[in-house]
Amino acid sequence: MAYDNPSLTVVTEEVPPGALRWRSPSNIALVKYWGKHGDQLPRNASVSFTLQNAATDTTLHYAPRRESVTGGVDVQLQLAGTPEPKFTARTQTYLKRLLPVYPFLRQLELRIETQNSFPHSAGIASSASGMSALALCLVSLEEQLFEPLPDRAAFLRKASYLARLGSGSACRSVYGGAAVWGQVPELSDSSGAYAVSIAEQLHPTFQSYHDDILLVSRSEKAVSSRAGHGLMDQNPYAPPRYAQANARSREILGVLQRGDTERFGQLLESEALTLHALMMSSQPSYTLIEPNTLHVINLLRQFRSETGHPIYFTLDAGPNVHLLYPEAVAEPTRRFIREHLLPYCEDRMYLADRVGTGPEQLEVNQTTPA
Ligand code: DP6
Repeated sequence: MAYDNPSLTVVTEEVPPGALRWRSPSNIALVKYWGKHGDQLPRNASVSFTLQNAATDTTLHYAPRRESVTGGVDVQLQLAGTPEPKFTARTQTYLKRLLPVYPFLRQLELRIETQNSFPHSAGIASSASGMSALALCLVSLEEQLFEPLPDRAAFLRKASYLARLGSGSACRSVYGGAAVWGQVPELSDSSGAYAVSIAEQLHPTFQSYHDDILLVSRSEKAVSSRAGHGLMDQNPYAPPRYAQANARSREILGVLQRGDTERFGQLLESEALTLHALMMSSQPSYTLIEPNTLHVINLLRQFRSETGHPIYFTLDAGPNVHLLYPEAVAEPTRRFIREHLLPYCEDRMYLADRVGTGPEQLEVNQTTPA
């Protein structure tokens, strides 16, 4: 691994206890990552918008560890103030995996406090925001205990690399605006090991783009993303799919630069439906979309053809529908959502979000920013 470093150990007596805190957003994939190999490497390039409001706020407390340091990593995790044995176990496994990069982790006692800005069980995946917030805390911890990284770009790249090892899509969340993960010929530093920012290349129309998330169902999904990625290995459509996604990642870069909302929408919707078609053509086959997902899609298509407004949908690995649209049509779109789409959402819930500015480091005792 590029970042492996056996010399990153501490003299425990010299480490004063401390804490670090980051707020990191979720992201919505425009071109989807679906299929992986090796050590969390993607089978194809993917492109996403970073969101603003859906985010995880994580504080990492650390202190020198007293007892033996031969075993795993000593970590406890609380989600919204409640101890979470399931997440603690997952985080332990993740941090153990990072030991070649950060051997000092086994010399510390770690306590993680984390909370999401979106309601608990909103049916919104929190792995991208959660893993990126934790990865950012870890790179800040490295800087606290050792040398600062050369610059902000090096800092974010390392955080992206570490976030990827926790959850693939999380590596794109460390940058504001938009990000690409996986190799794209036009981006010389792009890689499967970490994401790169394409915020500078976004046309102004896309910098202020909206993403309203319609919560069609808040129940936990039947098949996890991890299992879904695994099923791609046997999917007969996988090879052409990977080629398609790589071609689309290249194409969408130009679309995002030009501000071409129509081609953007065509790619966006085809990506969403292709993702779910891959699930349906897996063996065993499964479906995550629900009848109300299709009702929303049909109503949206009708509204678009009647008004000509460039509002398009995408889906992640679940039944909820993301509506992406430019600021110029925000007013009629919101009205349309309220009047026609909310009946198809569980408890009439939706989350208004937009392209965001990326993670921020917070003071440990600061109250959560709105
Ligand atoms: C459909 O990143 O959640 O949202 O790497 O196993 O944690 P793991 O999977 P995950 O998969 C996300 C899949 C997706 C598309 C995307 O975000 O690109």
